[in-house]
Amino acid sequence: MASTPGPSAQADPDWEGVRLHVVSGKGGTGKTTVAAALALALAAEGGRTLLIEVEGRQGIAELFGMAALPYEERKVATVSPSRLGLPGTGQGEVYALAIDTELALLEYLEMFYKLGRAGKALQKVGFVDFATTVAPGVRDVLLTGKACEAARRKGPDGRRAYDAIVMDAPPTGRLTRFLNVNEEVAGLARFGPIHGQAQAVMRVLKSPETAVHFVTLLEEMPVQETVDGIADLRAAQLPVGGVMVNMVRPPVLDAAAVAAVDGDHREEVAVALGEAGLGGRSRKPETVRAAVEPLLAPLLEQAREHAERVELERAQRADLQRAKLPTYELPLLGEGVDLGGLYRLAGELKRQGAA
Ligand SMILES: Nc1ncnc2c1ncn2[C@@H]1O[C@H](COP(=O)(O)OP(=O)(O)O)[C@@H](O)[C@H]1O
Ligand SMILES: [Mg+2]
Repeated sequence: MASTPGPSAQADPDWEGVRLHVVSGKGGTGKTTVAAALALALAAEGGRTLLIEVEGRQGIAELFGMAALPYEERKVATVSPSRLGLPGTGQGEVYALAIDTELALLEYLEMFYKLGRAGKALQKVGFVDFATTVAPGVRDVLLTGKACEAARRKGPDGRRAYDAIVMDAPPTGRLTRFLNVNEEVAGLARFGPIHGQAQAVMRVLKSPETAVHFVTLLEEMPVQETVDGIADLRAAQLPVGGVMVNMVRPPVLDAAAVAAVDGDHREEVAVALGEAGLGGRSRKPETVRAAVEPLLAPLLEQAREHAERVELERAQRADLQRAKLPTYELPLLGEGVDLGGLYRLAGELKRQGAA
């Protein structure tokens, strides 16, 4: 857990038995970024992870600086603990897959109906358009089915094809419906291969092999969505994972300083600014005072704003803590998330025990 590891200490992994990591959260909080960082963290000491993107935005390709991914599992990174700034040995691989709904549907049809060429004919008459736009549930069946298939897949040697799957899932608002779609399907098709497939997918999703994580910011809306999302999952008996608090800004003032902001500290601040040389070279008190005077109001205002933000964040953290889940904090990277930043976030997740 994120509790207290020192700068180089590393927490034990919290998700030892989990093979399918589903990453959700309010849109824009960094789902794609955190999912990619988690995939890197899980692969760091060896093994192979598959990162699946379901929203068709090619965000993963962009993150890894690649051209759009085809509907095909592609290696996007080789990773080691030292690459993440951590001690330890080993080397692992991250593969990525951007699911193309149309191709996934054809694959699915082929699997169950052995449609073969008939499937291609269906594509021509626009059946795929019909199925993917008119019946949105079908799309979710395909996406969850694909993730579970990858999680269960074994190679010819009988070994798992992937040690872990990380799914960059739909945002919180659509999440439970998305994960539960196979329950509906199993209820509609009461027997036969579709029923069997839907039940198999639900078995994986509801098992301890799956964990659904939430990415949030320390802001009211995403925290509320996270709290609601956790309750929805629990009600649907889906396995809740951890909370990744993203884009955390370091506090500029310590707690005592924040508490002091409310008082009238004009004089103290004026004296401190003078002593710090902000009043120029003059030693004459009136000259120093005149020079620092214009700085006072904006500085005190900034301190007040900062104190307000710290207080808001404290309240959001308290709301999240009530869910009693492992929580991880990822820093706001000032320069944005380039490949170096992505590895840094992965190192942070691993150091805090998320992988
Ligand atoms: N820790 C971070 N520090 C700085 N920028 C971040 C961080 N995490 C994500 N971002 C940026 O925020 C934006 C949204 O992230 P993204 O992962 O695409 O979110 P989502 O998938 O939830 O829509 C992107 O521009 C991304 O680079
Ligand atoms: Mg995204």
